[in-house]
Amino acid sequence: MKSVCADVVIDLQFGDCGKGKVVHCLAAERAYTHVMRFNGGSNAGHTIYHKGKKFVTHLVPAGVFHGVRSVVAGGCVVDVDKLLQEIRGLEKLGIPASELVRVAANAHIATRKHVAEEENEQKIGTTRTGNGPAYRDKHARTGRRAHDDSRLSHLLTDPYLELWGSDEGSYVLMEGAQGFGLDVDWGDYPYVSSSNCTVAGAVNAGIPPQNVMEIVGVAKPYVTYVGTKKFSGDHPGLTEIQRVGQEFGATTGRPRQCNWLHLPLLAMAANVNGVNKLIMNKTDVLEAVGEFRAYTDDKVDLISFSSIERFKGFVENYMFSKCPSIADGEIIWSSSPEKI
Ligand code: IMP
Ligand code: MG
Repeated sequence: MKSVCADVVIDLQFGDCGKGKVVHCLAAERAYTHVMRFNGGSNAGHTIYHKGKKFVTHLVPAGVFHGVRSVVAGGCVVDVDKLLQEIRGLEKLGIPASELVRVAANAHIATRKHVAEEENEQKIGTTRTGNGPAYRDKHARTGRRAHDDSRLSHLLTDPYLELWGSDEGSYVLMEGAQGFGLDVDWGDYPYVSSSNCTVAGAVNAGIPPQNVMEIVGVAKPYVTYVGTKKFSGDHPGLTEIQRVGQEFGATTGRPRQCNWLHLPLLAMAANVNGVNKLIMNKTDVLEAVGEFRAYTDDKVDLISFSSIERFKGFVENYMFSKCPSIADGEIIWSSSPEKI
């Protein structure tokens, strides 16, 4: 019997760093048996460019674009109407989602009541998708699971047998949602989402930790955040980043607050997750704006660089010196998703 092993893609900042692009590329390159979403629900918005067309997925894992079985794992909360709608929408665009998407029987349901409860939520600035209330009920043991909802009966799968039921073993791409800065334990509580966005959330789906092969951390050379806390700095360059980078929420359309790259946070996220490979997306945005800055000490020491090369060199030295898990040469500077 072969084992179950996995690669994990996680966001090291506050979501919206281009996981969709990275997952889409990996799923095309490697022989995965599954792509699996392991946390969050329809609060996520993954922007994917497939064959020149733009797609935004919320719950459906990116395996559907490559004919790979795509599972919503037990750590997620599912808005059933939205999931079924998303599957139908993808089908209409020629993506065979209904044949590929499965929902783990132990995933929880974000009900209409959960969504209604968040209708006027203003304290955290949530996506108002019922995510927090659904996780609250899960942990209070009053929630409903996927196998309790008849609308999902044709999509249900057993979370253990899905990965462990075949003698051939499984090779899974674990697709995270949100990011380290929004993790319920590691983020700036209470300005967080309600799930674990780390590798811990991924292995909880049935992956033995020693069988995690590659941990890909995704970040941007600046930071963005959507929510109520004051996050953006005052520099006009940040307004330019917002404009040039088209930093608007994929789920809510809200403008994302922008600030300069925060290196201590990036290093902490990489270390806690054991990141082997770091992908810095949207470098083209910073280059177009022409301002290169980074915090090296909890938002006190802001360093300015005269060129993108100097900025990249500093970031690489910083990350290699602080993060033992990042392999040599495995910091990759990449562009906005629509540029590949
Ligand atoms: P919730 O996940 O809807 O409860 O929202 C909690 C916080 O996480 C809010 O600040 C949201 O804006 C943020 N958030 C949730 N999902 C995402 C995402 O996919 N990208 C960026 N921010 C998100
Ligand atoms: Mg997003």
